[in-house]
Amino acid sequence: MSLYENLLLQLDNGILTITINRADKLNALNIDTVREIKAAIQQVYDDPAVRGAIFTGAGEKAFVAGADIAEIAELSDVNARSFAERGQEVFSMIEHCTKPVIAAVNGFALGGGCELAMACHMRVASENARFGQPEVNLGLIPGYGGTQRLTQLIGKGKAMELMMTADMIGAAEAKALGLVNHVVTPEELLSKCLEILSKITSKAPLAIGLVIDCVNAVYDKDEDGYQTEANSFARCCSSQDFVEGTNAFLEKRKPVFKGL
Ligand code: COA
Repeated sequence: MSLYENLLLQLDNGILTITINRADKLNALNIDTVREIKAAIQQVYDDPAVRGAIFTGAGEKAFVAGADIAEIAELSDVNARSFAERGQEVFSMIEHCTKPVIAAVNGFALGGGCELAMACHMRVASENARFGQPEVNLGLIPGYGGTQRLTQLIGKGKAMELMMTADMIGAAEAKALGLVNHVVTPEELLSKCLEILSKITSKAPLAIGLVIDCVNAVYDKDEDGYQTEANSFARCCSSQDFVEGTNAFLEKRKPVFKGL
């Protein structure tokens, strides 16, 4: 039996596309799907053939329309905390992955779907994408990191408004707020993500991973981001790719990076 019942995985030219595949439920994240996302992102960490990843949703309507409300309805205060913590752990793995991960938001990105997109390093949205954290409609709050990441991405006032009103916003507004990096037509969505990833994966992989670490350090209260940056800069300078990159510039040729 396949490891994945709710995801489709496709590896092409070093890019792993992970498609949440529950289109009849607008790709809502049930517990099994979150467990499968953990396995898929672990594959991105571990498989040297994978150089970057894209998360997207099956069908034309939704990226992910949230956590599965049928399952949420059964939660009690006993198991709800570990439910949230398990999701937070998986989304934190995405955020801290040292290979680039892009969300290709192809429709509704609500609740856990918006949280999944925000855990990725960047977001490209199709024109029909809709974003929101509508948990208060259910007597809930975001539980997979949304209160933190939405505030980090769009600032306190707008994050408060979106989470308290449960309003949905379209792709253009999401871009104006800094929630998404690019807005394209549905047809261009995956090719835009691949274009960005192709640019990133042509650079030195160690340096890319250290950029991700350093930017994440901004949001880690226990970390001195400047110290992390200085240490990471020094780490780069002891790498073979640094020697290659600087020599290639001086010799007026293209560098060939090896990730060493
Ligand atoms: N969890 C479980 N099932 C969901 C779901 C979710 N988060 N979102 C959608 N679905 C299911 C619907 O129950 C429906 O299933 P059914 O055909 O078996 O009845 C199917 O997906 C299609 O959804 P539907 O509501 O009929 O589509 P729509 O186009 O009328 O509305 C939305 C789309 C996104 C506005 C609406 O589905 C919605 O509000 N979803 C919940 C969003 C949410 O609150 N997310 C946060 C959860 S914490």
